[in-house]
Parts: sequence; structure tokens; C-alpha cells
Amino acid sequence: MISITSSDNILIPSTKKIAHQWGFIYSSSPTSPFFLQLTPQGLQLVQTTNLQNTNSLPSPIRIDFSSGSVAHRRIFGGGKGQTIAKAVGLNKLPIPIILDATAGMGKDAFIFASLGAKVILMERSPIVAALLNDALNRGLKNEEIAPIIQRMQLLHDDARYMNDTTFSNIRPDIIYLDPMFPHKKKSALVKKEMLAFQQIIGSDSDSDQLLNICQQIAHKRVVVKRPIKAPFLDNTTPSFSMKMKKHRFDIYISNNNKPA
Ligand SMILES: C[S@@+](CC[C@H](N)C(=O)[O-])C[C@H]1O[C@@H](n2cnc3c(N)ncnc32)[C@H](O)[C@@H]1O
Repeated sequence: MISITSSDNILIPSTKKIAHQWGFIYSSSPTSPFFLQLTPQGLQLVQTTNLQNTNSLPSPIRIDFSSGSVAHRRIFGGGKGQTIAKAVGLNKLPIPIILDATAGMGKDAFIFASLGAKVILMERSPIVAALLNDALNRGLKNEEIAPIIQRMQLLHDDARYMNDTTFSNIRPDIIYLDPMFPHKKKSALVKKEMLAFQQIIGSDSDSDQLLNICQQIAHKRVVVKRPIKAPFLDNTTPSFSMKMKKHRFDIYISNNNKPA
């Protein structure tokens, strides 16, 4: 169970509310290697140990859809021409409904929403879901990105247990999966966030179980993001793949979409 604290006395009531909502332990001075902290800038994950053996401690992890690499990609990322957009088939439907069943930091989900899709973000880790929830609430107050954030809905759930009743009247056309892949520690692919996530939520070693359930639910396709050399999810050959330098997208066209 992770602790949560606040950077500022005035934020204590809001911090206790978040603790109650997500099942965290409120502490005025946490000592664990990781803890959550509510600050005037938003909720963040603080690391007190050095996982990358550098001289300084890593900076806290906060999700922010309005700045940094996410904002840069929204403006300069190549729109619907980028490989990820082609992989999910964003051009094929007027307003596709995408379930990002492994939402994580929400970066990919934000790309889909910024290109016009309605996106359901499913995240099973309460820590990551709380960070996402905080970022979405902040994004709604930002004039520039609010119209995008309004197309994003968070579901704190485990995708392995979803069924038809999980989605009231909005069954997804496309399901996108990007489970964590167990990397070697020094791999350049392991970003600061992923390294921290691997420590606190594990390596998604049960992700093979996701493919079959997603194939039953998606109307059109299931898209799986994998490191370029990784085996297929659940050892299942996709309909086709789209390759990038370090990653590939394996695309499974849904049987629900094939002519009988
Ligand atoms: C590699 S991260 C996803 C990164 C994300 N694509 C992004 O752009 O930020 C994988 C995330 O999927 C979540 N996850 C893994 N298996 C899941 C499941 N069965 N249901 C819901 N979330 C899951 C993990 O908790 C983790 O936060």
C-alpha cells in the first residue's frame, strides 16, 4: 500500500480525500522508496531511491497533457499520418471509440483523442489511475486541451475481467494494448517512468491473457504495441504488423468485422 502526502498544509484535506478515494495511506512524512505527493502543480509520484545509478534522484513523475513531449507530439507528431494512427485505423471511422486497455501515462490515449477519437482509458493500478485522474481533471481546466480531454474517460479496472457489461452503450471499435515488457535494466527503451512503474506495479507478466478477451470485445481490431524484437502477444500471429525503429504494432482484425 502506497503512502500519500501533501507539499503544503493547505492541500491536506484534498490529499486525504484522494487517499480515501483510491485506498492510499495518508502520511505527513512518508519514508518509503516511493510515495505520492499532492502539490499545487498536481499529483506526483516521488522516488526516494536511485534506480538508474545516476548522481541525482529522479525528478517526480507527474502526468501533464499540456506540456512536454505529449504537447510537442500533439502539434508536430504528424497527425493521422503517424504510424500509431494508421495502426489503429483512425481514418476508417468518423469518430472511432478506442479502448486503451493498458492506459499507463495516457500518452498514446491522448494522441488518439487529439486526433478525434473517443477514448476509454482502462488502468488497473490505483497509483497510475490516480495520477491519470488528476491529469485529466487539470486538463479539463486548460482551455487549449479541454476539448481533447473531454473525449477521454478513465476506468479504473483490470482489462482481463472486462465483458459486455463493462461498456454500457459504448462498445469499443478498437482496443489498444501496450503492456509493459520486461526489459533489461540498461536498455535505452526503459524510460524513467517505466523503470519506476516496473518497481511499483510489476512487469505485466499476465498480458498474454488480454488478447483473447480483447478480440471478443473489439468491433474492428485489436492493436498491440510491442518492442520490435518481442514475440507476439500470446504467441498469436497478427493479421499484419506495422514496424517502427524500436517498436511494432501487431494488428488483429476482429472476427466480428469479417464477412460471415
Ligand atoms: C507500458 S504502460 C502503457 C503506456 C501507455 N501506452 C502510454 O502511452 O503511456 C502499461 C500500463 O498498463 C497497465 N496494465 C497492464 N495490464 C493491465 C490490465 N490487465 N488491465 C488494466 N491495466 C493494465 C499497467 O498497470 C501499466 O500502467
